[in-house]
Amino acid sequence: MTGATAGLGAHAVQRLTGPGAQVIIGARGSGGAPPTGCRVLPLDLASLDSVRNFADAVRSQVDGAAIDVLVLNAGAQFSRDDRRSADGFEMTFAVNHLAHYLLARSLLSGMASTGRIVFTTSDTHDPAVIPFGPKTLDVRALAHPPRRGSGFRAYAASKLCNLLTARSLSALDEVKERGISVIAFNPGLTGGTALLRGQTRVRRALAPAVLPLAGALLGRSHPQFHVGTPERAGEVLAELALGTAAPPPGRVYASLVKGEITFPDPSELARDDDARDLLWRESAAMVGLPA
Ligand SMILES: NC(=O)c1ccc[n+]([C@@H]2O[C@H](COP(=O)([O-])OP(=O)(O)OC[C@H]3O[C@@H](n4cnc5c(N)ncnc54)[C@H](OP(=O)(O)O)[C@@H]3O)[C@@H](O)[C@H]2O)c1
Repeated sequence: MTGATAGLGAHAVQRLTGPGAQVIIGARGSGGAPPTGCRVLPLDLASLDSVRNFADAVRSQVDGAAIDVLVLNAGAQFSRDDRRSADGFEMTFAVNHLAHYLLARSLLSGMASTGRIVFTTSDTHDPAVIPFGPKTLDVRALAHPPRRGSGFRAYAASKLCNLLTARSLSALDEVKERGISVIAFNPGLTGGTALLRGQTRVRRALAPAVLPLAGALLGRSHPQFHVGTPERAGEVLAELALGTAAPPPGRVYASLVKGEITFPDPSELARDDDARDLLWRESAAMVGLPA
């Protein structure tokens, strides 16, 4: 699991540990203490070499045993899109999408038949829900923005990439034949997490007041502004990971709306097979894998 050291992932991982479960989390060491019962291996999603080393370490740790569940929950959001990863990619794209794309592909052959891969996406990927959601996909421009742009837009686009990657994986013959489920989970607007730590000081200071206010004013009429808790979002992420909740057959998107799990269509662009295949191909080239 990635993203188990903070926010909703820290709640989810507590529900994944227990007798008989071997839980491995990838963490960069800057977060809180991992829950007992987990093994922590170093992983910085801002470096593709770190992702490759982590995947090797996981394979050696499980020593031939199959991986039942892969939870790709880590995410970051910044005020602008001017940060670069160790490999020179825009940081949000690199951490939220490219690293998880590489990790999923690197560990796929080690997954158990009927195993589950869960990505944490966001309804910000959908312009019908949030106005700055992406309406087009230019993968190279996301990886190397031609001019300085908004961090929110980079974030929303990276979450579209999570959804498209989940759809690509679920369409692979290998995945279908082995009965592996792939899910993209939107926890919805969730208060009390550390997601805004990469935002400006002003936005970080205002968020604790603005989020509940927006939720109270708009949450009834616009469910996307309802502010949920990390406990509930973590609970549902764990249910999807454990298979006690699942989208209907043939669908990948699960969305938490006002605390209830729903299975709506993702955005029009997320359902576009050309966009899906373009992202798969260009991401493969970026991480040095065959398409
Ligand atoms: N909060 C919301 O309103 C909301 C809404 C929709 C979707 N989401 C998604 O939910 C997921 C969890 O977010 P959250 O709100 O719980 O945020 P959070 O509290 O900031 O947790 C983010 C997690 O990702 C990890 N992470 C970030 N950058 C990393 C890196 N370079 N290498 C390794 N790990 C890294 C963090 O590790 P550290 O502890 O080391 O920082 C932490 O465990 C994200 O994918 C986010 O996009 C959140």
